[in-house]
Amino acid sequence: MTTWEIVPRGPLRGEIDLPGDKSVSHRALILNGLASGPARVRGLLRADDVRATLEAMRGFGVGIEDDGEEVRVTPPPGGLVEPPRVLDCGNAGTSMRLLAGVAAAEPFLTVLAGDASLSRRPMRRIVKPLRAMGAVVDGREDGRFPPLAIRGGSLTMTQHALEIASAQVKSCLLLAGRRVGVMVKEPRRSRDHTERMVQAMGATLRHSEDDWLALMPVDRLDPIDVDVPGDVSAAAFWLVAASIVPGSEVYLRGVGVNPTRTGVLDALEAMGADVQLYPVKGSGPEPCADLLARAGRLVGTRIDGDLALRCLDELPVLAVAAAAAEGQTVIADAAELRVKESDRIARVVTGLRAMGVEVEECPDGMIIEGGGLVGGGRVDATGDHRIAMAFAVAGLVAPKGAVVAGAEAVSSSYPQFREHLEKLRG
Ligand code: S3P
Repeated sequence: MTTWEIVPRGPLRGEIDLPGDKSVSHRALILNGLASGPARVRGLLRADDVRATLEAMRGFGVGIEDDGEEVRVTPPPGGLVEPPRVLDCGNAGTSMRLLAGVAAAEPFLTVLAGDASLSRRPMRRIVKPLRAMGAVVDGREDGRFPPLAIRGGSLTMTQHALEIASAQVKSCLLLAGRRVGVMVKEPRRSRDHTERMVQAMGATLRHSEDDWLALMPVDRLDPIDVDVPGDVSAAAFWLVAASIVPGSEVYLRGVGVNPTRTGVLDALEAMGADVQLYPVKGSGPEPCADLLARAGRLVGTRIDGDLALRCLDELPVLAVAAAAAEGQTVIADAAELRVKESDRIARVVTGLRAMGVEVEECPDGMIIEGGGLVGGGRVDATGDHRIAMAFAVAGLVAPKGAVVAGAEAVSSSYPQFREHLEKLRG
């Protein structure tokens, strides 16, 4: 187990090369693996979660070569083949749920498994609709948990009104319904990377006025070269760190600023943070910008509704910003945080309390009394990369610092996190 001891030590200054966006990286590999010819992906996130998707696509017979700069994806000429082994999704919910959709449209057996954290994450949300589409899906406790065994094939066009907004579930169903068409409606609109990419590959999607999303049956997907933008979820750690560590100034180039992902920028703006956005020309369906963050005085805010969904992955580090701010912050409508890589509500509340912050735990969020982190403490980040990074940021301003146990979890999404932290601290 890796344990980090992080103590305050001056401002963060400079620039770093952010890792590629995790959501876009998964989709660039999966969708190009289903396309009619080879494609190149630049800036792919090299981290465990995306490596799980890459190896799984190889298991389906897709050729994937990485020369260190570019990744070349070559779909098998006769379509995907039955994987000869269990596909290991590691810690990655996105891999498991999107690959389940891929598998459901194929007339063979696919088995998807994951690590201890992924094996506790809810799968009924995809198993039920995939069964309704005609796939044979089994899993532990009648499909509640991984591993999943899927025998897909001739599905029928179906409609799904989802109970929770989830880009993983929506993308799973779009992938499963790629040959026959499918309709999906979410209570709120989650990140739309899949929709943008399949449309750029020639698929037809329609949004109805009452918020149904319809994918028309797809005969072929044109391959698409992808320049993966910097991950705004990784940027969030530096935006918060630069905002709360006095004297800091951090510049981040080429960050993906898809509006379904930029809730962290809106939440920080509402807190009075000094974050500037300079749009830059991206090369694909995802908008990009450079971001400049400087230290400032933060105030408490309310994060709920659509905003909470648009910054769900960033809520742990926003909770740290809230603790460093003046006044109260309320986080609500974020019950989904409890079924991420860990129960992030419980972990954040426990971690902030250990660092001397007054926090009330709610079923769907928390209420944080700001005024600064006053002590220091030990936090268990086992199995959850974002908890490790959020509390590393807390350690930059807690007088006695943070001890982050289980910090190896950052390899899921941001293996260079610690190196980048030291670079920014000079
Ligand atoms: C993701 C969707 C989100 C997010 C996850 C990545 C994706 O999950 O939390 O880190 O790439 O589709 P849900 O929208 O399924 O909650």
